Amino acid sequence: MTIFDHFARRLPALPGVGYKPQHFSEILQDPDPVGWLEVHAENYMGAGGRPLAQLRHLAERFPISVHGVGLSIGGEAPLDRDHLAGLSRLCGEMNPASFSEHLAWSTHDGAFLNDLLPLPYTAQTLARVAAHVDQVQEALGQQMLLENPSTYVAFRETVLDEIDFLAEIARRTGCGLLLDVNNVFVSCTNQQRDPWDYITRFPLHLVGEIHLGGHDADHDSANRPLLNDSHGTEVADPGWALYAEVIRRTGPLPTLIEWYNDVPDWQTLAAEATRARQILVPARASPALPGPFLTPKARCPQALSAPKACPMPNALRSIATPSTARSSRCSRPVFRLCNG
Ligand SMILES: [Fe+2]
Repeated sequence: MTIFDHFARRLPALPGVGYKPQHFSEILQDPDPVGWLEVHAENYMGAGGRPLAQLRHLAERFPISVHGVGLSIGGEAPLDRDHLAGLSRLCGEMNPASFSEHLAWSTHDGAFLNDLLPLPYTAQTLARVAAHVDQVQEALGQQMLLENPSTYVAFRETVLDEIDFLAEIARRTGCGLLLDVNNVFVSCTNQQRDPWDYITRFPLHLVGEIHLGGHDADHDSANRPLLNDSHGTEVADPGWALYAEVIRRTGPLPTLIEWYNDVPDWQTLAAEATRARQILVPARASPALPGPFLTPKARCPQALSAPKACPMPNALRSIATPSTARSSRCSRPVFRLCNG
């Protein structure tokens, strides 16, 4: 099976929820269940037991998205081979419709940090993340989605825009992107940027899944808004508005309600999924807006060509990998960088 073959088995363009064991029975008994479930990989990488038994049972009825939170793809160190082997075993057994991880790091020099930390966007980190994504996709035998982070600081060393960074990772590796709309709102608010501009510039055609979650609002020492990506509340109104605009542009996409802290009862969680469905269903009836977005174009890197009018930023042009460098590995999808 090639990575491209697996790409055809994506999640349904329906609302899904992050699975929590306390909802196990109600999910199975719900007469109008969600379209799919997402699980955090690290909760199911043990040898067996009740969690894995429940997941196997759910996987017989629901498409499953496996979402990693501990691989530290953005870290300086090589990926943890044991961790990657555990992911490979889990995905091998569950055959998930999607695997995703974060553009972030969480381990360094033997220390494990319980957070998803941002990284500077430079030529060096771009090359490292691309190599790590390559390694993950080859280990799992499937395409992965890379999620945009929620950030609270910007690095002096950063020379690339986050969107350009993500798009270039996708171009180099053939991975897709996971667009966390709440992360967009959190990051842009914290860094005094425009979230509408962010989603307008984001390569939406590469998005295989959307995350919607809640955040906590605070203020920093200068009394500026400071948002915390808490995953512990309902989706905020700005999140719904940004999401509706994304769906208006793309048409229906698999959409996760991500509520992992202070988990509510099943009815409350299902109501959030219903609200997402109310945005997705009308989108089925109207074609997505045409936009200057990237389109899957070819399976072979030898077919990759950048038209003269390519808007690739100069910073990326200077570090872009020659397409012929990957010509011996033609099985993954490749995306043209420009419209037309
Ligand atoms: Fe997320």
